[in-house]
Amino acid sequence: DWSPASFVDTTVAELKAQLGNDRVILGLSGGVDSSVAAVLLNKAIGKNLTCIFVDHGMLRKNEFHDVLRDYESLGLNVIGVDASEKFFSELAGVTEPEKKRKIIGKGFIDVFEAEAKKITDAKWLAQGTIYPDRIESMNITGKVIKSHHNVGGLPEKMHLSLCEPLKWLFKDEVRRVGRQMQMPEHLISRHPFPGPGLAVRILGDITPEKVRVLQEADDIFIRGLREWTCEDGETLYNKVWQAGVILLPIQSVGVMGDERTYEKAVALRAVTSTDAMTADWAHLPYEFMAKVSNEIINKVKGVNRVCYDISSKPPATIEWE
Ligand code: XMP
Repeated sequence: DWSPASFVDTTVAELKAQLGNDRVILGLSGGVDSSVAAVLLNKAIGKNLTCIFVDHGMLRKNEFHDVLRDYESLGLNVIGVDASEKFFSELAGVTEPEKKRKIIGKGFIDVFEAEAKKITDAKWLAQGTIYPDRIESMNITGKVIKSHHNVGGLPEKMHLSLCEPLKWLFKDEVRRVGRQMQMPEHLISRHPFPGPGLAVRILGDITPEKVRVLQEADDIFIRGLREWTCEDGETLYNKVWQAGVILLPIQSVGVMGDERTYEKAVALRAVTSTDAMTADWAHLPYEFMAKVSNEIINKVKGVNRVCYDISSKPPATIEWE
């Protein structure tokens, strides 16, 4: 009978037996799954675990530094790599969604591999893969909807064995395991975030300036969700599965004072879901949306229009690319 406490005990014991004194590398993304996997492994093998956290430049505002600080305070042995320049230059001028995903996926593997190679005696690559990830990439229909980027292909290439301690769990179980290990609540309740990051939320080509604009708008939306408490005492952030802002590749006419403006439009996306396989658009309160919309238009230079995405998955997906 499953409980987070017994899962932690048996998994830590199994990891100890399986890994012995081997060195293990793990790619941290800042998300719940890889963080919980890292803390479990840290419990089992301590300093034999080296975590690598790559900044591809498409993370949320301040995310790289905030998350690195969190990891360090969890006692993890973590290496942060700022590779944003590489990604910006490789992505320049690329507009096709799958091509963008491929570039980021490959670039990520290159950076990760270069770091991982420095740990010459590593035997294992650990990942925070969970059960729904494997279902989505099994592709029962044989059709690739989106090429999800993870460290695919790398274990074979580097002659590393794969260690996936969470591979039978669902997200809610991963969160319970994290709480069981007393990880900070803001890490546990974090929304999922796609591997390619804001790159799949900037439609069209990517520039550092577009990333900056999107980071500002996204920060206002996410902070707003965290700060809005509903009647039942729960925040809007905790009520939705995932949320973010999409930067649209269009400009529209607006007016500011007595000046005509011609600036960018953004879409807010917030969904409810239990596993990301299906999702419904979140019915956010109108007063909340009015507040966020005003704040974005007033504070984010270059944006003069805010829309709300009311599509469910299927047929839409959660991300726009
Ligand atoms: P879609 O857009 O397919 O997204 O409805 C389903 C869930 O997966 C996340 N997502 C990704 N996660 N690498 C990831 O690790 C990726 O390449 C990727 N693309 C989408 C998305 O944010 C949602 O939670």
